Amino acid sequence: MAGNSFGQAFRITTGGEAHGPGNLVIIDGCPAGLPLCEDDLAADLARRRPGQSRIVTQRDEPDTPEILSGVFEGRTTGTSIAILIRNRDQRSHDYAAIKDKYRPGHADYSFDAKYGFRDYRGGGRSSARETTVRVAAGAVAKKLIAAAFGGRVLGYVRQVGRVEASIPDPAGVTPEQVERLPNGDPNIVRCPDPAKAKAMVALIEQMRKQGNSIGGLAEFVASGVPPGLGEPVFDKLKADLAKGLFSLPAVLGVEYGIGFGCALLRGTDNNDLFYAEQSGGRSRVATRTNRHGGMLGGISTGMPIVLRAAVKPTSSLPLEQETVTSGGEPTTVSTKGRHDPCLLPRFVPMGEAMIALVLADHWLRQAGARTDT
Ligand SMILES: Cc1cc2nc3c(=O)[nH]c(=O)nc-3n(C[C@H](O)[C@H](O)[C@H](O)COP(=O)(O)O)c2cc1C
Repeated sequence: MAGNSFGQAFRITTGGEAHGPGNLVIIDGCPAGLPLCEDDLAADLARRRPGQSRIVTQRDEPDTPEILSGVFEGRTTGTSIAILIRNRDQRSHDYAAIKDKYRPGHADYSFDAKYGFRDYRGGGRSSARETTVRVAAGAVAKKLIAAAFGGRVLGYVRQVGRVEASIPDPAGVTPEQVERLPNGDPNIVRCPDPAKAKAMVALIEQMRKQGNSIGGLAEFVASGVPPGLGEPVFDKLKADLAKGLFSLPAVLGVEYGIGFGCALLRGTDNNDLFYAEQSGGRSRVATRTNRHGGMLGGISTGMPIVLRAAVKPTSSLPLEQETVTSGGEPTTVSTKGRHDPCLLPRFVPMGEAMIALVLADHWLRQAGARTDT
């Protein structure tokens, strides 16, 4: 009922708040024998970490994961995996002055409307702090899908404000292009188009100086996914992927393949034509184009799965904005805490995690789908 769990066969349950002692995830359904240690979680947690560059929040969290159960001698045991990440750098006093004010764009009012009481420190359970443990669970799911079928999920920033990257072949983008610029410097905005990455960083820095924030679009590609994953009706792969991405904070839109662009097309322009692709002496069905984004009937086709998420500009702003108190009195509010002027660079590993979790879940569910394999 309370919606703290996600997935069926590969299922995560999270607990924790922004300013509590920490965040915890329990992963159920991970098969035994998968090599796993804390270091396997470190790379994605570092990509999500606050304080990683000058264009993100300067909250200083080491985000060191502790695996509490489910791993023995470096391999999963098949029992529940519990991972804890402690909060270290809370500054709860930043929030005391605004505890009765409804911050625009935040969940303060809607939480009060639901519960009549809330942890006002940093958004409580609605905060993106909760996603630390999802990213840790996603790293486990990434290992599982890589071992099971060579699956890989990669995200990057496609657009910040009006600065849009040119990415002609999403499936051809490499992790190195996302994380490093051609000169070897860190690609702090995670956009694989280096000229546009520079323009995005300049725009985000301008927003920070103005006490403002900016939205954008992240794009994700899941490659190596075999055809046949997904259920035909309510648990369509596209529906579960959309739920996974929409469950992340600040997401206002999700599309896959040609997405909203399909509204402009005729059937002849939209259909992706099938052909038999020969590779390594074997034949497989493929499509010449990928407007369908790797899923038909909510079931994977074997083509790369391509999704985009629209992420809103950060709501917390140092500028004064009009609002009301919980008693309905008109007032103004400004947020003094440490915030990202653009959420996109840190959103990338969160989206990848949710996509990997969905793919791991549907791969395990597929094992019971037919009798002839
Ligand atoms: C990476 C990331 C970091 C975030 N950090 C902040 C933040 O510092 N300040 C803020 O106002 N919102 C932040 N958010 C967004 C809020 O958590 C979110 O907008 C709020 O809980 C309301 O939920 P909704 O936008 O999904 O409706 C962050 C979101 C993400 C994805």
